[in-house]
Amino acid sequence: MSNEEYFQINRENWNRRTELHLQSDWYRHEAFRQGETSLKEIELEILGDVGGQSILHLQCHFGQDTISLARMGARAVGVDFSDRAIDEARRLADELGVEARFVCCNVYDAASLISERFDRVFVSYGAIGWLPDLQAWARLVAGFLRPGGQLVLVEFHPFIWTFDDDFRELRYDYCSAAPIIEEQQGSYGNPTATAPIRSVGWNHGLGKVVSCALEAGLQLQSLQEFDYSPYACFSHAVEAQPGRFRIEHIAPRIPMVYALTARKLAE
Ligand SMILES: C[S@@+](CC[C@H](N)C(=O)[O-])C[C@H]1O[C@@H](n2cnc3c(N)ncnc32)[C@H](O)[C@@H]1O
Repeated sequence: MSNEEYFQINRENWNRRTELHLQSDWYRHEAFRQGETSLKEIELEILGDVGGQSILHLQCHFGQDTISLARMGARAVGVDFSDRAIDEARRLADELGVEARFVCCNVYDAASLISERFDRVFVSYGAIGWLPDLQAWARLVAGFLRPGGQLVLVEFHPFIWTFDDDFRELRYDYCSAAPIIEEQQGSYGNPTATAPIRSVGWNHGLGKVVSCALEAGLQLQSLQEFDYSPYACFSHAVEAQPGRFRIEHIAPRIPMVYALTARKLAE
């Protein structure tokens, strides 16, 4: 199958998941409407005061994080290829009276639709695993940053994607160019749905992520690993501390999230 066919499968996957996510309360819709931020402590600490900054948020889903950034005073642009998600993001921003721009396109096509440069590119939780070519992604990110601008990437750790869904055994390669084609019942945000959803993903190891950023001309500033996830989106996740989820039966703590920042030095 070609990348275009993979993207088509994933676009359908995310259109359906968006519908499921809007029907469940996993994304705390009402609290968000009332002003709660959807950003978690890890990225809030890294981002700091974003007032007046221009931020490109790649793979923004239905826009909660983009809108949260805008509520903090950033000029935020969200990109996602799910038309259902972008429709909802625009509707939500309108409803809340928040100024945020949303562009519906594949990440790899974003440069043909967005001409400006940004202070920051923000990418988080469950994003780069949908992208087949990380070198091209890193070049794209670098292209969107102004000199001195910064990539903030907060992602689930590639180590957790080596486990089976039940976290009982190691099943997948830590880093592989081969696509992983799966069928899942429902979504993390609404597991009750019955119709299976097909998806195609890729496991990008940490070394590969760092290397791609460096090759694209970004200078690594920080790389942190966290032994918890702020999202309870894995089976057997228990809240070990408020807002910090770990896998119940895995006794030695494993890395569950990493956060990378990298700066663009020059054109
Ligand atoms: C897990 S969600 C990201 C969640 C994100 N942390 C947030 O702000 O809610 C993954 C998103 O990536 C989008 N996506 C996947 N592949 C994409 C691609 N090639 N181009 C653009 N968006 C893509 C999906 O539509 C989906 O909304």
